[in-house]
Amino acid sequence: MFTFARSNLKKHENMKGMKGKKERFLTLLMSTERDGIIRTVKMLEKIGFFTAPASSRYHLNHEGGLLEHSLNVCNMALDLREIVLKRKPELEDRLPVDSILLASLLHDVCKADIYKPTTRKQKNDKGEWEDVPSYEVDHGEFPFGHGEKSVILLLQAGLKLTNDEALAIRWHMQAWDLPFQSADIKGNFNKAREDCPLVQLLISADGLASQLEG
Ligand SMILES: [Fe+2]
Ligand SMILES: [Fe+2]
Repeated sequence: MFTFARSNLKKHENMKGMKGKKERFLTLLMSTERDGIIRTVKMLEKIGFFTAPASSRYHLNHEGGLLEHSLNVCNMALDLREIVLKRKPELEDRLPVDSILLASLLHDVCKADIYKPTTRKQKNDKGEWEDVPSYEVDHGEFPFGHGEKSVILLLQAGLKLTNDEALAIRWHMQAWDLPFQSADIKGNFNKAREDCPLVQLLISADGLASQLEG
């Protein structure tokens, strides 16, 4: 009974926290006033972005985890922008705040519909096996990759991304899967990172935020 009440309380607190995070996310996103942003928010609602976890078993693998991760990456990206511009003020035109907001808040839209709730066995405090809520990965009807899927979903929704924003979202995972790519794709990634400061900034913000999330 007590366990039930406590878990319900935790869920209630989590829901309250999620509401505030969703409001902050929407305020930041809408502040860009980018063409297509309202249709993009509708698409996010439709695919479950605001309730999805950030992973199946690693960082923020709970309801609302993807929303939390996206805000964490956004905060980190805004901080990194300040640091970069202190050293290289001439990059200001290549790192406008609205690009930082759009690229960071929307980089992982691809994950919104791939985690399906399930249960897994876990030992409790008494050493007994019990079923606990978990997620499994299902790439579903649109197995289009990671960053590339995010870009496509956003463009399909009608969001007018700049080339820099699209490149940053497309390549944000390359630190993880570059060794498995062809020479052609590596060449594209290297050129994008060389030409577009937003690419490396988003890779760094995503990596740092994820590591701090534990
Ligand atoms: Fe990602
Ligand atoms: Fe991410």
